[in-house]
Amino acid sequence: MTKGRGTLSQRPEWLALAQHCETVRSLHLRDLFAADAERAERFAVEAGGLLLDYSKNRITDETLRLLLDLARASGLKERIEAMFGGEKINVTEGRAVLHVALRAPRQSRLLVDGENIIPGVHAVLDRMSAFAERVRGGDWRGHSGRPIRHVVNLGIGGSDLGPRMVWEALRHYGQPDLQIAFVSNIDGSDFTSVTRELDPAETLFIVCSKTFTTQETLANAHAARRWCLDATGDESAIAKHFVAVSSNAQEVARFGIDPANMFGFWDWVGGRYSCTSAVGLSVMIGIGPERFREMLAGFHALDEHFRTAPFERNLPVLLALLGVWYNGFFGCESHCVLPYSQSLWRLPAYLQQLDMESNGKGIGLDGNPVAHQTGPIIWGEPGTNGQHAFYQLLHQGTRLVPCDFIGFSRSNAPLGRHHHMLMANCFAQSQALAFGRTRREVEEEGVSARLVPHRSFEGNRPSNTILAPLLTPGVLGKLIALYEHKVFVQGAIWGINSFDQWGVELGKQLADRIIPQLEADAEPELSHDASTNALIGHYRRGRSSLR
Ligand code: F6P
Repeated sequence: MTKGRGTLSQRPEWLALAQHCETVRSLHLRDLFAADAERAERFAVEAGGLLLDYSKNRITDETLRLLLDLARASGLKERIEAMFGGEKINVTEGRAVLHVALRAPRQSRLLVDGENIIPGVHAVLDRMSAFAERVRGGDWRGHSGRPIRHVVNLGIGGSDLGPRMVWEALRHYGQPDLQIAFVSNIDGSDFTSVTRELDPAETLFIVCSKTFTTQETLANAHAARRWCLDATGDESAIAKHFVAVSSNAQEVARFGIDPANMFGFWDWVGGRYSCTSAVGLSVMIGIGPERFREMLAGFHALDEHFRTAPFERNLPVLLALLGVWYNGFFGCESHCVLPYSQSLWRLPAYLQQLDMESNGKGIGLDGNPVAHQTGPIIWGEPGTNGQHAFYQLLHQGTRLVPCDFIGFSRSNAPLGRHHHMLMANCFAQSQALAFGRTRREVEEEGVSARLVPHRSFEGNRPSNTILAPLLTPGVLGKLIALYEHKVFVQGAIWGINSFDQWGVELGKQLADRIIPQLEADAEPELSHDASTNALIGHYRRGRSSLR
């Protein structure tokens, strides 16, 4: 619920869309394009070098008008102002939501509890820059006096997916003699496979955890500590080979990392919105402070666009409304993200956390169950790989899956005709999805009657295409901010809190109970449900049979 106007699905703007959908459902993109020579131009917006072509969506001008009505009636403008103004919109945790402050220019001002937070943001960025330069320049030395050649980020969730995705996207700006690696999983093979080839004398660990209580990260940090001590035999080596990124100085000190080697951030930065905070330290070491600041400038440009552009020309608002349209009125369960860029191969995984941890909620801001669908399932893979895997379902399956195609005019790794081939595929796929191939067209190709139904494509499958000149740090910043704000808009319309994540807690608590039962030498008393008891028993027998 928003603005105390009753449940979303009973509001007049929602009902108007539901009624309008009855008409639009029977329209085909083929006809919509044929009837309107200007459709591609009218349903496209450019902001800061990012083009959003949303013409291949099952919408008319009227759809857009009604969706914009819904956005206004949901109090979106006020919600945006509340976030940018530092109001505690994360109501279940009593926190402001200010990732936008992390990329605000030095001279700006933003008050939280009466204090301007911008100088603190830049103080951390300056410390990060100085540290990154020391590591990059070989001035930060390991215990034995050798320069650092490997940086390993130990973190999970937002303390892994963000920096890992950004590093993969921008690693072509990296320094060849400096390797950046990531360990996240509590599966020991993650740690052992990453560290197998590394020399402890030249390795720096960044223990990256907002809370510094996350089980997986602490277990990996302790494993790293042992690995380092086994090689050096000297406790004082820890200070040279470990730094921390956290908002919990007390726990960092308890782990044994000198608070002087800690880079802080604040409770108003959510984990999945944290890659522009000190959580990006591994990236900054990899690409250098200057490139990192270019990325922040890109984020900021899109933040400003989101805050100031009219809704009808506002990229995040439009993307969000289109998602609300398919989710709410076409019954679409999922949304597919298809970057035509190998550098963005972790983007779908990153967006999964961003979107699904933010908007995977069934309780509204008023504490009551919502009566409408909220966040979709986000999935995807880079093109063209996905084409040879799951696109069959996108083209001819029984489900409607809206897609985002993302591509660039130029490549960061030009190689023969590769880039033209890559982007030709990108454009061809959205074309095939939208327009399909009719039975008549297939028959005219001389296909046998038996195969005609199998070889026809109904089309009318919606997609957006986001196009930029080149994947630079600034463009990446804009792209990520675009999705961050899209998620915000959808959460505002669905009337949920996009900034807590209570849904991850229960499993963590249950695992804490089960761990000692798996480790115990003597047969433990089990009082779980019958299935869990049986699984634990089977696991234990499986281990003893291998002794
Ligand atoms: O379990 C979910 C979560 O809390 C995410 O929201 C967060 O990004 C991740 O765990 C890691 O948390 P932390 O940075 O505190 O280790």
